[in-house]
Amino acid sequence: MHRMIIDCDPGHDDAIALILAHRHADVVGITAVAGNAPLEATAANALAVTAALGVDTPVIAGADTSLLGVAKDARIVHGESGLGGVTLPRHDRALAGGHAVDFLLEASDPDTWIVAIGPLTNVALAIARDPTWPTRIAGISIMGGSTDNGNVTATAEFNIYADPEAAARVFRCGAPLIMCGLNLTHQLPVDDAVLGRVRQIDTPAGKLATESFTFLLDRLDSLTGTRRASLHDPCAVLAVTHPELLDTESCTVTVELAGEHTRGMTVVDRRSRSGVEAHVDVGVRLASEEAMALVEGALAGE
Ligand code: BDR
Ligand code: CA
Repeated sequence: MHRMIIDCDPGHDDAIALILAHRHADVVGITAVAGNAPLEATAANALAVTAALGVDTPVIAGADTSLLGVAKDARIVHGESGLGGVTLPRHDRALAGGHAVDFLLEASDPDTWIVAIGPLTNVALAIARDPTWPTRIAGISIMGGSTDNGNVTATAEFNIYADPEAAARVFRCGAPLIMCGLNLTHQLPVDDAVLGRVRQIDTPAGKLATESFTFLLDRLDSLTGTRRASLHDPCAVLAVTHPELLDTESCTVTVELAGEHTRGMTVVDRRSRSGVEAHVDVGVRLASEEAMALVEGALAGE
């Protein structure tokens, strides 16, 4: 099993990623970052998901704003709590002490994957603290960016848009990088058919996912007119645990920091002769049915 630390901002799809990862990987810690909701909520949600799973994975809180001190959230999609519609279990777990950045630096080793599925602030702060750290980990699997359209703006995806300076630092840090952008994650959709199957899964994780998907489909219906939600974050877990399900292209990726209309865009250079050494494995195709079967299996505890 791959050793991993999950840096996240739960968030509905983050919660599913946590469930999937605990089934298929050795999750040694969860670091929380502000993103879908404020830090207090994302850290509490991560803790509650571990309680629902009955695991004692440490959860450590990290950055509560972007590197530039801005807090952008996605409560319009995920609800005020970050996990709208989900009844979280009562539990007696507590956050582990210390800061996420210390945990990332101290708990990782050359076999450890960082699965980064929120804004990249914690990861960027770890790199700033120790620029050699990226050479001492297995790699970073990022849910963020896109090779085509964004979801916050025409060109920017939320996790990059929320902290572009952090993302820029991570994309040039020197670690092996996998990018699971919207172009890939839209290939793992939840719709009413998936919800119908998940509703039959009689486990704590199945109940959590049923409430989560019900909320998300209703919310996206009212926001976009379609009952279809992408499971973005689980893709970054699968990229490590089941790489055979993804086709990737080796590309250069630059984060746009200045553009009036393009700030937060991941500029993905797919040209084979761009003259710059490609350094990111960019996910382009996902075996959707197999991926969804793994998600549903994890909810069922299989
Ligand atoms: C990403 O943004 C968040 O809202 C999701 O949890 C995911 O990490 C998708 O753009
Ligand atoms: Ca997320």
